[in-house]
Amino acid sequence: MSETKKKVMFSGIQPSGDFTIGNYFGAIKNWTELQSIYECYFCIVDLHALTVPQDAAMLRKRTYECYAMLIAAGLEPEKLVLFVQSHVAAHSELSWLLNCYTYMGELSRMIQFKEKSAKQGENIRAALFDYPVLMAADILLYQAHYVPVGEDQRQHIEITRDIAMRFNNTYSPTFTIPEGHYPKTGARIMSLQEPQNKMSKSDSNVNAYITLKDKPEDILRKFKRAVTDSDDKIVYDEQNKPGISNLLQIYASARGMTIEQAQNSCGAMTYAELKMQVAEGVIETLKPIQKRYEELMKDKELLESYMRQGAERAEKVANKTLQKVQKKIGLVLRK
Ligand code: TYM
Repeated sequence: MSETKKKVMFSGIQPSGDFTIGNYFGAIKNWTELQSIYECYFCIVDLHALTVPQDAAMLRKRTYECYAMLIAAGLEPEKLVLFVQSHVAAHSELSWLLNCYTYMGELSRMIQFKEKSAKQGENIRAALFDYPVLMAADILLYQAHYVPVGEDQRQHIEITRDIAMRFNNTYSPTFTIPEGHYPKTGARIMSLQEPQNKMSKSDSNVNAYITLKDKPEDILRKFKRAVTDSDDKIVYDEQNKPGISNLLQIYASARGMTIEQAQNSCGAMTYAELKMQVAEGVIETLKPIQKRYEELMKDKELLESYMRQGAERAEKVANKTLQKVQKKIGLVLRK
């Protein structure tokens, strides 16, 4: 009997700042665990980063750093396809075509657009509004069955499904309809300073987030300053105790526990003890990643060769889907 074909998984991450433990526990850690089970395509989405202003030199530098960090965190470029979005032209091309099957109304309902555009002042880029269409193109090019992401991407997965179904119904089955794949713990790591908001790498307050590059003393300091509440009970209650619930979630994620197990082992601690324990778990998790990252960053050529191989492998699959779409909608293919 022939070997059953593996299901396809696609995900992306923006090089818009140093990765946070939100990115790690919400997405990257999950990817490392899934890379052997699925046919995986993971991508540094540099084109998405351009939807808000970026410094050119910084974007270039971060693209290398983020790529290296994904490998340091455990992704194996030989096992999966790890590439940079702008290296595969089909992403931009399909994005344009899908724009022709997407409605302004549905894009204007996107929470991320509302939040990000509110921070941009007068000149909001059209690309920020159009962001979910490029994301749909990313996913649909690879005929992905699953998309492992954190909770904040749920609405973007929904619109991807809607666009894909609309296209399939207008023509004939073309795209696999993808499903979101969310981690049991860590799907929504919150800010350490405003625990009702998600932890974000673009937060203006550096004490609000922990990056994968933070030194142990900084990690400890940031957790010590984390906002909690005036009570003294360690229980998971997102509504009434968002700070403590977030610390419990990070504790559980760093130690591979469920929230319930974390609550059982921390229930008798003081807040100060809990903060120390959470910091220790995160420091230990990040230690081997940081060591490997330093080594990788010394070898730019190796990174570039991985990027090239990734793009070549991705391109083969992506171009096939793109051609299929071009044909169905009536474009004349170049002979
Ligand atoms: P980005 O770069 O904001 O985040 C990358 C991944 O990290 C997750 N994440 C979190 N998870 C838990 N808690 C948090 N505080 C937290 N912050 C971020 C995100 O859910 C995401 O999985 N639009 C995407 C990138 C993208 C993409 C794609 C993803 C572009 N194309 C195609 C999947 C498929 C984004 O901005 O992720």
